[in-house]
Amino acid sequence: MVDIDSKLRLAIIGVGGWGKNHARVLHDFGVLSAVCDMDAQRTKEIAERYNTNSYHSIDDLLNTEKLDACLVCTPTKTHSVVAKKIMERGINVFVEKPLSFSSRECEEMVEISQKKKLILTSGYIERFNPAVQDVKRLIDSKRYGDLLMMEFHRENRMPLHVKDVGIIYDTSVHDIDTAMFLFNSIPHVVFARAGKKFHMYEDFATIMLGFNDQRVAIIASNWITPQRVRRFSAVCTDGIIMGDFISQEIKIDHGEATIIPRRQQFQEPLTLELKNFLDAIEGKIRGPVVSAADATNVTKVAEAALLSNNTGSPVYLDLK
Ligand SMILES: NC(=O)c1ccc[n+]([C@@H]2O[C@H](COP(=O)([O-])OP(=O)(O)OC[C@H]3O[C@@H](n4cnc5c(N)ncnc54)[C@H](O)[C@@H]3O)[C@@H](O)[C@H]2O)c1
Repeated sequence: MVDIDSKLRLAIIGVGGWGKNHARVLHDFGVLSAVCDMDAQRTKEIAERYNTNSYHSIDDLLNTEKLDACLVCTPTKTHSVVAKKIMERGINVFVEKPLSFSSRECEEMVEISQKKKLILTSGYIERFNPAVQDVKRLIDSKRYGDLLMMEFHRENRMPLHVKDVGIIYDTSVHDIDTAMFLFNSIPHVVFARAGKKFHMYEDFATIMLGFNDQRVAIIASNWITPQRVRRFSAVCTDGIIMGDFISQEIKIDHGEATIIPRRQQFQEPLTLELKNFLDAIEGKIRGPVVSAADATNVTKVAEAALLSNNTGSPVYLDLK
């Protein structure tokens, strides 16, 4: 349970499959003022459920409501246009992942947010997953030595409604972000192989990220496997740590024993993520956990992965 005592007024743009979860959490926090979706039926349903104002057009929403922040939960290729419109009105914005499919658009968004002194963050929700938080603490403490390699598996049947991007921008980006977070570093080389079987864009991909000191992350994602799999492992010099994004369980094997720390309670990453956004807006913390610069780097890595797949060569990066 997360306690919120806030007078903030927020709106959600896009209350489809994922945006409706944001609506539930913001309603529980008592900060949901309005929802906006071009699909009239969806807007009506969510607005009635949470007793909020509803709009079908973003301009009407922004012209009518007095808002502290908006959440952008529309399809990826619309993120930048929608977020810019919001920021031009001096309103803070949380944009679902990826910040944009284009790093040039990400950079433009970052520039506007800096010029207008606004919070801009993106929905890299796994940072708030208690399993990732626990593994991060173990890695940073070096309890099992130095982190050398990571492997991520994210698999499920194809989500039929995702039409504007392939699996790299939709799904692998979560693990690209988590790899950079756990390594506390940015990769200097990306190599990827991807393919498409059932989708317009790639629906399976394996991406290799090279970090300094020979450290490496392998990210395997597919929209083919019938079961939902979301797990990762971190090979350290004195043990291997395994995590499951879904069960939030972690397991440590250090040669002499296998340890499964008991989790006191399941925490919803979305609740923690949105609490962090509210705290950043209210100035309770220095900035959101996911900076706009971090999110821009994820998009740059995803772009490099697509380029590497198209050219068959590694792509060297100079990320800041
Ligand atoms: N963080 C996560 O774990 C996670 C999970 C799922 C989806 N997402 C992200 O959330 C975003 C939305 O995904 P989804 O699965 O909910 O998609 P969706 O297609 O189910 O919903 C998108 C909604 O946006 C509305 N919309 C589109 N353009 C609009 C506009 N200009 N104005 C108002 N409404 C508009 C559509 O009518 C639709 O209801 C994507 O960026 C996706 O990557 C994140």
